[in-house]
Amino acid sequence: MGIMDRLLIHLAIALLARKAALTTSLAASGNRVATAQNARCTRGSRASLFRQNYAPSLARLFSYHLDSHMRVLSGIQPTGRPHWGNFFGAIRQYIDLQTEHDGFYFIADLHALTTVRDAKTLRQNTLDAALDMLALGLDPEKATLFVQSRVPEVTELTWLLMTGTPMGLLERCHAYKDKKEKGLKADAGLFTYPVLMAADILAYDSQLVPVGQDQVQHIEVCRDLAGTFNHEFGETFILPVAKTLEHGAKVPGTDGQKMSKSYNNTLPLFGDVKSIRKMIMRTTTDSRPMDDPKEPDDDHLFQLYRLFASPAEVETMAAMYRRGGFGYGDVKKAVADVSEQYFQAAREKRLELEKNLDYVSQTLDAGAAKARQVAAKVLDRARKACGLGA
Ligand code: TYM
Repeated sequence: MGIMDRLLIHLAIALLARKAALTTSLAASGNRVATAQNARCTRGSRASLFRQNYAPSLARLFSYHLDSHMRVLSGIQPTGRPHWGNFFGAIRQYIDLQTEHDGFYFIADLHALTTVRDAKTLRQNTLDAALDMLALGLDPEKATLFVQSRVPEVTELTWLLMTGTPMGLLERCHAYKDKKEKGLKADAGLFTYPVLMAADILAYDSQLVPVGQDQVQHIEVCRDLAGTFNHEFGETFILPVAKTLEHGAKVPGTDGQKMSKSYNNTLPLFGDVKSIRKMIMRTTTDSRPMDDPKEPDDDHLFQLYRLFASPAEVETMAAMYRRGGFGYGDVKKAVADVSEQYFQAAREKRLELEKNLDYVSQTLDAGAAKARQVAAKVLDRARKACGLGA
């Protein structure tokens, strides 16, 4: 073995150790970083994942695994009122990360166009999403909040990425695949949705992308497209890493399936508390006799309770499940009480913000201006790399 080989092996070991240290420190606080190696990745992408992980400059790998102040980016679609899944899977992470890191958070109105086909509704939903995020604790002094369509650089970048996107990769993406399997009509917007999402992420040199489990596949696609571009045109993009939470990655809905607007099983964050209580009381439960002991982790009501309650309360509830002899009505009431209290401060803050819409629109203007500056530089880098312009 030559001296260069030995040096490379030492470097690789040092890199893996540093990477493991970052993963462990995030995991210790209940977080999960889905790397290309441990996240389920798209079939057919392995060759380029290999290129991305082992061939690109070591400097880039070093820069994002060692950086304690990372560019964190994520987005939410304004397709209706946000629900508990959006909050515990994603928004809570945005807020937790905004102090230590450079957060870029946006309202994905371009993505929402694939489902919301009414201008007034889309405009209102976009404003509502901004109010919701600010009320929940997103702080514009710490993070950048903006609306996706206010940064047109992203759509140009989408095209640059689209030219290198294999059709098969998009055919395997779940949003399009699910719709097609159900025999529903899908348009080119839905089909190319993951490419726009990749552009969203790459346009800001994002390193960490906090999301729920359902978005991890899209971040793998983003890594894949960025890796291919880097391979063809030289180092241009930073490869992002998805971050999910242990108990928040797949929040169940009132029927036990993943909570999702398309399943009609959501519990909203804001709205009339009495109606929300009614929705919780209507949550489906199994038909086992009250006396039977039950495994708490298998029950979606318990999973919901765990999102809000303190560790001691969770332990007491788990013990009750294992003992048996309780009615689900009590658990539902506990979920309703604890959640009502949890979101109380955000509800009050939202009412205040509704009276100050100028502040909201100024925040979005400032956010878009800052986001555009960053995206313009990355787009320029990408245009030059592939031979566009002078
Ligand atoms: P969207 O609007 O569907 O969801 C917003 C965030 O909420 C998470 N989420 C959940 N997490 C846990 N349990 C659930 N039941 C649940 N339901 C939703 C989602 O994983 C997501 O993190 N394509 C994205 C928006 C987007 C984006 C991006 C995200 C556009 N560009 C770039 C990250 C980076 C979407 O439709 O999210």
